[in-house]
Amino acid sequence: MRIKDIEFKLKEGRTAILRNPGDEDIQGMLDYLYISAGETDFILRYPEECSKYTPEGEKALFDRMNDSENETMLACIVDGKVAGNCQITWSTGLKTKHRAKIGIALLKEYWNQGIGTAMFEEMIRIARSNPDIIQMELEFIEGNSRARALYEKMGFRITGVKPDAIRLKDGTLLNEYSMVKKIR
Ligand SMILES: CC(C)(COP(=O)(O)OP(=O)(O)OC[C@H]1O[C@@H](n2cnc3c(N)ncnc32)[C@H](O)[C@@H]1OP(=O)(O)O)[C@@H](O)C(=O)NCCC(=O)NCCS
Repeated sequence: MRIKDIEFKLKEGRTAILRNPGDEDIQGMLDYLYISAGETDFILRYPEECSKYTPEGEKALFDRMNDSENETMLACIVDGKVAGNCQITWSTGLKTKHRAKIGIALLKEYWNQGIGTAMFEEMIRIARSNPDIIQMELEFIEGNSRARALYEKMGFRITGVKPDAIRLKDGTLLNEYSMVKKIR
């Protein structure tokens, strides 16, 4: 699914653009995937697991998501660089097409600049524009207070916890929380 480009200001003043990723973003997205994996334990990959991502794979992913009717990816671009992305996907199954799932992550240098808020505002608009969707769903890892604060600000509430869902390299086990936002 494609969206119209959205321009907004970061808290520090620079202009950012939210838009669907294109071929010009392939290397930037690969860099973002690798760098972000090393900046936080709160996303589901380590940097060494990023070798599975290739330019061809990213192109195929962008093309598929841009042409899809039940998913979309939004990249945030600042000064031509990929600052992060988010995705919203909903099922086409009759019993589950009322549920939209979302994911989001940014490079650390862009945290706390309002990008997450802008991404959520657009994903909520997309979900509301589909009359089948009743609720938006996401997960976050124990300790991710920034993500939790953003999600609660956007109207999500904790609905459950999966114990020890994440195991870090040093053996630390972390719970994963589920959140839901009802949109109609
Ligand atoms: C989580 C993430 C997507 C949030 O995006 P963001 O652009 O930083 O979020 P925003 O700047 O729009 O909003 C963050 C809010 O949290 C608040 N906040 C920041 N740090 C916080 C903390 N430690 N505790 C509580 N609230 C915090 C900010 O004040 C802001 O609220 P405000 O807009 O009312 O002032 C981003 O920080 C990120 O990519 N983190 C690493 C990857 C990740 O955790 N992804 C989510 C996986 S579930």
